[in-house]
Amino acid sequence: MALTGIDAVTFGVTDMAEAKRFLDDWGVAPASATADRLVYQTRDGAEVIVRPRDAADLPPPIEDGNTVREVIWGAADEAQLQQTLATLSSVDNVRTGADGLPRVTDPNGLSLAFRVSRRKPVSVTPTPSNAPGSHQRVNQRSPIHDRARPINIGHIVLFAADFAAMRAFYTEKLGFVISDEYPGHGVFTRCQTVGAHHNLFMLNRPGRPGVNHVAFTVSDIHEVIGGGIAMSKRGWKTEIGPGRHPISSAYFWYFENPLAAPLEYYADEDYCTEDWRPGAFERKPELFAEWAIVGGIDGTTRRQMASRDQSGRGHA
Ligand SMILES: [Fe+2]
Repeated sequence: MALTGIDAVTFGVTDMAEAKRFLDDWGVAPASATADRLVYQTRDGAEVIVRPRDAADLPPPIEDGNTVREVIWGAADEAQLQQTLATLSSVDNVRTGADGLPRVTDPNGLSLAFRVSRRKPVSVTPTPSNAPGSHQRVNQRSPIHDRARPINIGHIVLFAADFAAMRAFYTEKLGFVISDEYPGHGVFTRCQTVGAHHNLFMLNRPGRPGVNHVAFTVSDIHEVIGGGIAMSKRGWKTEIGPGRHPISSAYFWYFENPLAAPLEYYADEDYCTEDWRPGAFERKPELFAEWAIVGGIDGTTRRQMASRDQSGRGHA
Protein backbone atom coordinates (compact mmCIF):
# COMPACT_ATOMS: atom_id res chain seq x y z
CA MET A 1 0.00 0.00 0.00
CA ALA A 2 1.20 3.42 -0.94
CA LEU A 3 0.47 5.45 2.19
CA THR A 4 2.64 5.21 5.28
CA GLY A 5 0.58 7.18 7.81
CA ILE A 6 -0.50 10.61 8.96
CA ASP A 7 2.04 13.24 7.92
CA ALA A 8 0.19 16.27 9.29
CA VAL A 9 -3.10 17.34 10.80
CA THR A 10 -4.38 20.90 10.47
CA PHE A 11 -6.65 22.27 13.18
CA GLY A 12 -8.82 25.40 13.00
CA VAL A 13 -9.22 27.05 16.41
CA THR A 14 -10.71 30.14 18.03
CA ASP A 15 -7.86 30.80 20.45
CA MET A 16 -4.33 30.48 19.02
CA ALA A 17 -2.67 31.39 22.33
CA GLU A 18 -4.56 28.71 24.21
CA ALA A 19 -3.75 26.15 21.52
CA LYS A 20 -0.08 27.09 21.83
CA ARG A 21 -0.19 26.70 25.60
CA PHE A 22 -1.71 23.24 25.23
CA LEU A 23 0.78 22.02 22.62
CA ASP A 24 3.75 23.32 24.61
CA ASP A 25 2.52 21.13 27.47
CA TRP A 26 1.54 18.18 25.24
CA GLY A 27 5.21 17.56 24.44
CA VAL A 28 5.39 18.15 20.71
CA ALA A 29 8.26 20.36 19.53
CA PRO A 30 7.61 23.90 18.26
CA ALA A 31 8.82 24.28 14.67
CA SER A 32 7.45 27.69 13.69
CA ALA A 33 4.99 30.25 14.97
CA THR A 34 3.31 33.24 13.38
CA ALA A 35 0.11 35.05 14.27
CA ASP A 36 -1.98 32.82 12.05
CA ARG A 37 0.01 29.58 11.89
CA LEU A 38 1.60 27.37 14.54
CA VAL A 39 3.53 24.29 13.54
CA TYR A 40 4.63 21.63 16.01
CA GLN A 41 6.33 18.32 15.29
CA THR A 42 6.21 14.89 16.83
CA ARG A 43 9.51 13.09 17.27
CA ASP A 44 9.26 11.58 13.79
CA GLY A 45 8.53 14.92 12.15
CA ALA A 46 4.77 14.64 11.70
CA GLU A 47 3.23 18.08 11.91
CA VAL A 48 0.49 19.54 14.07
CA ILE A 49 -0.61 22.69 12.25
CA VAL A 50 -2.86 25.20 13.99
CA ARG A 51 -4.68 27.98 12.20
CA PRO A 52 -7.35 30.49 13.19
CA ARG A 53 -10.71 28.92 12.59
CA ASP A 54 -11.78 31.69 10.23
CA ALA A 55 -8.62 31.67 8.06
CA ALA A 56 -9.82 32.17 4.50
CA ASP A 57 -7.48 29.56 3.03
CA LEU A 58 -8.59 26.70 5.30
CA PRO A 59 -10.75 23.93 3.89
CA PRO A 60 -14.31 24.11 5.22
CA PRO A 61 -15.05 22.50 8.59
CA ILE A 62 -17.08 19.30 8.81
CA GLU A 63 -18.60 20.29 12.16
CA ASP A 64 -19.07 23.33 14.39
CA GLY A 65 -16.40 24.52 16.78
CA ASN A 66 -12.67 23.88 16.89
CA THR A 67 -11.88 20.85 14.78
CA VAL A 68 -9.61 19.16 12.26
CA ARG A 69 -9.67 20.95 8.92
CA GLU A 70 -7.36 18.70 6.94
CA VAL A 71 -5.32 15.51 7.18
CA ILE A 72 -2.16 15.12 5.10
CA TRP A 73 -1.36 11.48 4.40
CA GLY A 74 2.26 10.60 3.64
CA ALA A 75 3.62 8.26 0.99
CA ALA A 76 7.02 6.59 1.17
CA ASP A 77 8.33 8.14 -2.05
CA GLU A 78 7.23 9.85 -5.26
CA ALA A 79 6.38 6.57 -6.97
CA GLN A 80 4.17 5.53 -4.06
CA LEU A 81 2.53 8.94 -4.05
CA GLN A 82 1.75 8.63 -7.74
CA GLN A 83 0.33 5.16 -7.11
CA THR A 84 -2.06 6.62 -4.57
CA LEU A 85 -3.08 9.39 -6.93
CA ALA A 86 -3.68 6.86 -9.69
CA THR A 87 -6.08 4.96 -7.44
CA LEU A 88 -7.85 8.25 -6.77
CA SER A 89 -8.22 9.08 -10.43
CA SER A 90 -11.77 7.78 -10.32
CA VAL A 91 -12.59 10.27 -7.55
CA ASP A 92 -14.10 13.30 -9.17
CA ASN A 93 -12.81 16.01 -6.85
CA VAL A 94 -9.03 15.64 -7.09
CA ARG A 95 -7.48 19.12 -7.17
CA THR A 96 -4.15 20.80 -6.51
CA GLY A 97 -3.89 23.28 -3.67
CA ALA A 98 -1.94 26.53 -3.59
CA ASP A 99 0.88 24.62 -1.90
CA GLY A 100 1.04 22.21 -4.83
CA LEU A 101 -0.30 19.23 -2.92
CA PRO A 102 -2.95 17.05 -4.51
CA ARG A 103 -6.16 17.03 -2.52
CA VAL A 104 -9.49 15.29 -2.37
CA THR A 105 -12.52 15.60 -0.14
CA ASP A 106 -13.70 12.43 1.57
CA PRO A 107 -17.41 11.55 1.72
CA ASN A 108 -17.57 13.25 5.12
CA GLY A 109 -16.48 16.56 3.58
CA LEU A 110 -13.01 16.42 5.15
CA SER A 111 -10.10 17.67 3.05
CA LEU A 112 -7.29 15.16 2.51
CA ALA A 113 -3.92 16.09 1.04
CA PHE A 114 -1.09 13.80 -0.02
CA ARG A 115 2.66 14.25 -0.11
CA VAL A 116 5.90 12.31 0.03
CA SER A 117 6.26 11.80 3.75
CA ARG A 118 8.56 14.10 5.69
CA ARG A 119 8.53 11.76 8.69
CA LYS A 120 11.73 10.04 9.75
CA PRO A 121 11.74 6.55 11.23
CA VAL A 122 11.95 6.59 15.00
CA SER A 123 12.88 3.40 16.77
CA VAL A 124 11.89 3.08 20.40
CA THR A 125 12.62 0.35 22.90
CA PRO A 126 9.77 0.19 25.40
CA THR A 127 10.65 -0.52 29.00
CA PRO A 128 11.33 -4.24 29.31
CA SER A 129 9.19 -6.21 31.76
CA ASN A 130 10.14 -8.71 34.40
CA ALA A 131 8.24 -11.84 35.36
CA PRO A 132 9.29 -14.97 37.23
CA GLY A 133 11.53 -16.93 34.92
CA SER A 134 11.69 -14.10 32.37
CA HIS A 135 13.80 -11.15 33.42
CA GLN A 136 14.01 -8.60 30.63
CA ARG A 137 15.10 -5.71 32.85
CA VAL A 138 18.10 -6.55 34.98
CA ASN A 139 19.91 -4.07 37.22
CA GLN A 140 17.78 -1.34 35.69
CA ARG A 141 14.96 0.65 37.25
CA SER A 142 11.70 1.19 35.39
CA PRO A 143 11.33 4.86 34.36
CA ILE A 144 9.01 7.53 35.69
CA HIS A 145 8.40 10.16 33.00
CA ASP A 146 7.91 13.79 33.93
CA ARG A 147 6.21 14.48 30.59
CA ALA A 148 5.45 12.77 27.28
CA ARG A 149 7.25 13.29 23.98
CA PRO A 150 4.84 12.00 21.33
CA ILE A 151 6.52 9.96 18.62
CA ASN A 152 3.95 10.25 15.85
CA ILE A 153 0.34 11.05 15.03
CA GLY A 154 -0.82 7.46 15.07
CA HIS A 155 -4.49 7.70 14.22
CA ILE A 156 -7.56 9.82 13.73
CA VAL A 157 -11.10 8.78 14.54
CA LEU A 158 -13.96 10.18 12.51
CA PHE A 159 -17.71 10.12 12.93
CA ALA A 160 -18.97 9.05 9.52
CA ALA A 161 -22.13 10.75 8.32
CA ASP A 162 -22.51 8.10 5.61
CA PHE A 163 -20.75 5.10 7.09
CA ALA A 164 -21.01 2.86 4.04
CA ALA A 165 -19.63 5.58 1.78
CA MET A 166 -16.74 6.35 4.11
CA ARG A 167 -15.88 2.67 4.57
CA ALA A 168 -15.90 2.17 0.81
CA PHE A 169 -13.87 5.33 0.09
CA TYR A 170 -11.02 4.50 2.45
CA THR A 171 -10.87 0.74 1.87
CA GLU A 172 -11.62 0.64 -1.86
CA LYS A 173 -10.16 3.93 -3.12
CA LEU A 174 -7.29 4.48 -0.70
CA GLY A 175 -6.60 0.82 0.01
CA PHE A 176 -6.92 0.90 3.78
CA VAL A 177 -6.99 -2.57 5.35
CA ILE A 178 -9.65 -3.54 7.88
CA SER A 179 -8.13 -4.59 11.21
CA ASP A 180 -11.32 -5.03 13.23
CA GLU A 181 -14.92 -4.05 12.86
CA TYR A 182 -18.19 -3.39 14.63
CA PRO A 183 -20.27 -4.42 11.61
CA GLY A 184 -22.44 -1.52 10.56
CA HIS A 185 -21.21 0.62 13.45
CA GLY A 186 -17.46 1.11 13.22
CA VAL A 187 -14.37 0.01 11.36
CA PHE A 188 -10.71 0.10 12.43
CA THR A 189 -8.44 0.48 9.41
CA ARG A 190 -4.71 0.69 8.77
CA CYS A 191 -3.10 2.27 5.73
CA GLN A 192 -0.51 -0.50 5.31
CA THR A 193 -0.98 -4.25 5.42
CA VAL A 194 2.01 -4.53 7.73
CA GLY A 195 1.64 -1.88 10.37
CA ALA A 196 0.04 -0.59 13.53
CA HIS A 197 -3.55 -1.66 14.24
CA HIS A 198 -5.29 1.48 13.05
CA ASN A 199 -4.48 4.82 11.46
CA LEU A 200 -8.14 5.58 10.88
CA PHE A 201 -11.18 4.45 12.82
CA MET A 202 -14.59 5.40 11.53
CA LEU A 203 -17.75 5.40 13.62
CA ASN A 204 -21.23 5.42 12.17
CA ARG A 205 -23.10 8.60 13.07
CA PRO A 206 -25.70 9.11 10.36
CA GLY A 207 -25.93 12.63 9.00
CA ARG A 208 -23.46 14.14 11.47
CA PRO A 209 -19.83 14.13 10.34
CA GLY A 210 -17.23 14.92 12.94
CA VAL A 211 -13.96 14.16 14.65
CA ASN A 212 -13.98 11.80 17.62
CA HIS A 213 -10.30 12.19 18.55
CA VAL A 214 -6.73 12.41 17.28
CA ALA A 215 -4.10 10.16 18.85
CA PHE A 216 -0.38 10.49 19.51
CA THR A 217 1.85 7.47 20.05
CA VAL A 218 4.23 7.37 23.01
CA SER A 219 6.78 4.72 23.87
CA ASP A 220 5.05 2.65 26.53
CA ILE A 221 2.52 2.64 29.35
CA HIS A 222 4.92 4.50 31.62
CA GLU A 223 5.03 7.44 29.21
CA VAL A 224 1.23 7.38 28.90
CA ILE A 225 0.94 7.62 32.67
CA GLY A 226 3.77 10.12 33.18
CA GLY A 227 2.58 12.29 30.31
CA GLY A 228 -1.00 12.22 31.50
CA ILE A 229 -0.12 13.12 35.05
CA ALA A 230 2.04 16.00 33.77
CA MET A 231 -0.90 17.33 31.74
CA SER A 232 -3.15 17.06 34.79
CA LYS A 233 -0.63 18.90 36.90
CA ARG A 234 -0.66 21.74 34.34
CA GLY A 235 -4.43 21.96 34.69
CA TRP A 236 -5.59 20.20 31.53
CA LYS A 237 -8.75 18.18 32.00
CA THR A 238 -8.92 14.48 31.38
CA GLU A 239 -11.70 13.32 29.13
CA ILE A 240 -11.12 9.69 30.08
CA GLY A 241 -8.06 7.79 31.15
CA PRO A 242 -5.76 6.26 31.88
CA GLY A 243 -7.26 3.03 30.64
CA ARG A 244 -6.80 0.16 28.24
CA HIS A 245 -8.59 -0.72 25.00
CA PRO A 246 -9.35 -4.42 24.43
CA ILE A 247 -9.49 -3.75 20.67
CA SER A 248 -5.96 -2.75 19.60
CA SER A 249 -4.69 -3.62 23.13
CA ALA A 250 -3.42 -0.06 23.65
CA TYR A 251 -3.13 1.90 26.87
CA PHE A 252 -4.73 5.33 26.52
CA TRP A 253 -5.34 8.70 28.13
CA TYR A 254 -7.58 11.33 26.47
CA PHE A 255 -7.49 15.06 27.19
CA GLU A 256 -9.87 17.89 26.48
CA ASN A 257 -8.05 20.65 24.63
CA PRO A 258 -8.43 23.94 22.72
CA LEU A 259 -7.68 22.35 19.31
CA ALA A 260 -10.50 19.93 18.65
CA ALA A 261 -12.17 16.84 20.05
CA PRO A 262 -10.05 14.99 22.63
CA LEU A 263 -6.40 14.30 21.94
CA GLU A 264 -5.00 10.97 23.08
CA TYR A 265 -1.71 9.61 24.32
CA TYR A 266 -1.48 5.89 23.62
CA ALA A 267 1.04 3.06 23.61
CA ASP A 268 1.48 -0.65 23.00
CA GLU A 269 -1.09 -1.18 20.26
CA ASP A 270 -1.31 -4.36 18.22
CA TYR A 271 0.93 -4.63 15.17
CA CYS A 272 -0.54 -6.46 12.20
CA THR A 273 0.62 -8.30 9.11
CA GLU A 274 -1.26 -10.14 6.38
CA ASP A 275 -1.75 -12.91 8.97
CA TRP A 276 -3.75 -10.68 11.33
CA ARG A 277 -7.30 -11.98 11.58
CA PRO A 278 -9.86 -9.16 11.73
CA GLY A 279 -12.50 -9.54 14.37
CA ALA A 280 -16.17 -8.64 14.15
CA PHE A 281 -17.41 -7.36 17.47
CA GLU A 282 -20.60 -6.04 18.94
CA ARG A 283 -20.09 -2.38 19.86
CA LYS A 284 -20.33 -2.03 23.62
CA PRO A 285 -18.53 -0.12 26.39
CA GLU A 286 -16.52 -3.15 27.52
CA LEU A 287 -14.80 -3.14 24.14
CA PHE A 288 -13.89 0.54 24.39
CA ALA A 289 -12.16 -0.02 27.71
CA GLU A 290 -11.15 -3.11 29.63
CA TRP A 291 -10.71 -0.59 32.43
CA ALA A 292 -10.55 3.18 32.60
CA ILE A 293 -10.43 6.04 35.05
CA VAL A 294 -12.97 8.74 34.31
CA GLY A 295 -11.65 12.17 35.20
CA GLY A 296 -8.05 11.05 35.34
CA ILE A 297 -5.44 11.31 38.05
CA ASP A 298 -4.77 14.52 39.95
CA GLY A 299 -1.28 15.73 39.09
CA THR A 300 -0.58 16.88 42.62
CA THR A 301 -2.16 14.25 44.83
CA ARG A 302 -1.40 11.41 42.38
CA ARG A 303 -4.83 10.02 43.26
CA GLN A 304 -7.80 9.58 40.99
CA MET A 305 -10.20 12.45 40.54
CA ALA A 306 -13.75 11.89 41.70
CA SER A 307 -15.73 12.22 38.50
CA ARG A 308 -18.50 10.85 36.35
CA ASP A 309 -18.37 10.19 32.64
CA GLN A 310 -20.51 12.92 31.16
CA SER A 311 -18.72 13.23 27.83
CA GLY A 312 -21.57 11.86 25.79
CA ARG A 313 -18.96 10.79 23.27
CA GLY A 314 -19.93 7.15 23.33
CA HIS A 315 -16.43 5.90 24.02
CA ALA A 316 -16.15 3.29 21.37
FE1 LIG B 1 -7.56 6.32 19.83
